[in-house]
Amino acid sequence: PKRVLSGIQPTGSLHLGNYLGAIKKWVHLQDSGDEAFYSIADLHAITVPQDPRNLRTGILEMTASLLACGIDPEKCVLFQQSKVLYHTQLCWVLASFTTMAKLGQQAQLREKREILQELSTALYLYPVLQAADILLYKATHVPVGEDQISHLNLASFIARGFNKRFGDTFPIPHPFINEDSSRRLKSLRNPLSKMSKSDNDPRSRINLCDSPEEILLKCKKAVTDCSSAVEYDPEKRPGISNLLVIHSSLTGKTIDTICQEAAGMETGNYKITMATEIIEVLRPIRERFHELIKEPAYLEDVLETGASRASACARETWQEVSKRIGIDTSL
Ligand code: TYM
Repeated sequence: PKRVLSGIQPTGSLHLGNYLGAIKKWVHLQDSGDEAFYSIADLHAITVPQDPRNLRTGILEMTASLLACGIDPEKCVLFQQSKVLYHTQLCWVLASFTTMAKLGQQAQLREKREILQELSTALYLYPVLQAADILLYKATHVPVGEDQISHLNLASFIARGFNKRFGDTFPIPHPFINEDSSRRLKSLRNPLSKMSKSDNDPRSRINLCDSPEEILLKCKKAVTDCSSAVEYDPEKRPGISNLLVIHSSLTGKTIDTICQEAAGMETGNYKITMATEIIEVLRPIRERFHELIKEPAYLEDVLETGASRASACARETWQEVSKRIGIDTSL
């Protein structure tokens, strides 16, 4: 049977890249009856500077957004990472068997080095903590967008190394990426870089809970090129192609169909048509989010229940691991 785990950082709002790259698959896997654990990765978030006030609201907003997208705490375990103490415990153990050389190779560190003056020690450990997230639940499938592949490869590497040294303990986790919907969504302002929560320009991404006015404005301002035909050519025309991918993934229409419907239309008008359609698709999510965010006590309760269910599973793995490495502590 499949065992599913994934995570998302609670920094900034949930955007279309997260939704199409990962969260839709989370919902699908939860609904297909697989045992699924989904974590709000607050310990990953603090590896770079965060404002404490934003972090607390971010955690509740992320919880509300995930529920609004269809994550159902009756069908999966939704929890806040830091409430389950075993994540940092296992991270330390795994870090003890992972070389600095291996961690220094991460492409993500290079990217971060361009933005930050100094990198925290925790940033080096970032993928080890992610491996601990996955291995604690003995997950076999990890639904993520393609930007997480290198982290997943490291998690498999760590799992294999541990099994070899201490005996079979962890199943090897696999990224769960389905071709189409998980193509990396690009920034609306620069179609060569990915749509990201950490981009300083809010017009670069569409958040699931943006108002219709915001969505319309962001679509209208999306950077395309000087040719006005609506056609799909990700190599030569990344801007319009990114809009087509978004439009197609959200409505379920094929890119061909959309291009036929837009025949003779200029990109300017197409952007308005596209915005109108995606505003409607996102309407139920947006409305549900606004209801849920008024119920912080309910959201806290969901996270509390999730943490105790996650802990019960994590505790078993921890006991097994601690026995195998010879410290044998039950927590
Ligand atoms: P995070 O918070 O950056 O993103 C959450 C999920 O959204 C996907 N994603 C995208 N997919 C397609 N196009 C985009 N533009 C785009 N932007 C984001 C990401 O691939 C991800 O699946 N390190 C992780 C969080 C994490 C985790 C884990 C994931 C912590 N522990 C254990 C899996 C397993 C992260 O920063 O995701």
